[in-house]
Amino acid sequence: SAADKGGWSSFMAKEVSEEPEAVANTIRGRVRDGQIVVPELDGLDELFTSITRIIVVACGTAAYAGLVGKYAIEQWARVPVDVELAHEFRYRDPVIGPDTLVVSISQSGETMDTLMAVKYARERGAKTLSICNTQGATIPRESDAIVYTHAGPEVAVASTKAFVAQITALYLFGLHLGRVRGSLPETEAAEHVRELEAIPTKIQQILDREQSRIDQFAHWMADTRSVLFLGRHVGYPIALEGALKLKELAYIHAEGFAAGELKHGPIALIEPGQPVFVIVPSPRESAELHKKVVSNIQEIRARGARVIVIAEEGDAAVLPFADEVLRIPLAGPLFEPLLAVVPLHIFAMGLSTAKGLDVDQPRNLAKSVTVE
Ligand code: G6P
Repeated sequence: SAADKGGWSSFMAKEVSEEPEAVANTIRGRVRDGQIVVPELDGLDELFTSITRIIVVACGTAAYAGLVGKYAIEQWARVPVDVELAHEFRYRDPVIGPDTLVVSISQSGETMDTLMAVKYARERGAKTLSICNTQGATIPRESDAIVYTHAGPEVAVASTKAFVAQITALYLFGLHLGRVRGSLPETEAAEHVRELEAIPTKIQQILDREQSRIDQFAHWMADTRSVLFLGRHVGYPIALEGALKLKELAYIHAEGFAAGELKHGPIALIEPGQPVFVIVPSPRESAELHKKVVSNIQEIRARGARVIVIAEEGDAAVLPFADEVLRIPLAGPLFEPLLAVVPLHIFAMGLSTAKGLDVDQPRNLAKSVTVE
């Protein structure tokens, strides 16, 4: 049954191994002739052309998926997108109305903070779209439109495969919106669809090639007291997600930063031996950002940081400054987060296991937080 570990050491190990399928199943049935066709969004063209802004509301890992989605939706659909923690949203009298689409993201569909944000948005006249992994849950039932993620049941408390499925669903929505609003040329959209369809195989390659090495250095790092994560552009929310997973699973102090912010504060934290994960943008696709992040790596390395780099295959510029290099297959700039997060999920799980902790049921946490 789906609630079985199926030979894996933990539900999370099983669920991380299912990240390729989570993406593939979320895309399935939603591409026709190389273009995105989301049947659930049929008949909503008028709504999607009339909105002037989008606010994404979510908690935890789902909110980081929202932050990734913001980059893609703004680029493709040219609608301003804000991402807000659901519990902050409704207590500040936000400026919303009929021209606002509030997109909620929730694996369980039962998170009380997110549900209350959705209800509040509706009361204020906003339109609501739910991205949810659980058929018939409360949040989708309270929403005007639904795009389900098809990650399958997620049992481990901390979210992994649902995260990649949430990004996938946001991308399907962004491509759909770009077409409906006429802001995304068909040829460009078709290229993005091809990119998205190639993601499951690329995630599988990471699992096949890097898992044992990541487990090994997670083991070496079992005594580490603090880990930092740096990323830029769509790599920034991935840095936040990498840090959250480490807190949740390994009870280690961890923080994610926007790499550009380093010199404005976080660099003061760097001392000899400090482990820092750096998510490096593609040198082919984002040459300018790549250069800036490589120079960040040089700066922290010069101060003694132990640098673990997540970089595209063939990126040689990172080699002189990295203690470890984890490779991800080539992908367009907006698609890298779906790959870069995989080594971070493996690492957090590996470190938790190395410390002898329960990866599926971390202390103090609940899978679905149904109180405010
Ligand atoms: C809890 C879980 C997290 C999850 C968050 C949001 O805090 O421990 O893993 O990201 O809730 O859950 P949701 O079901 O709304 O996605």
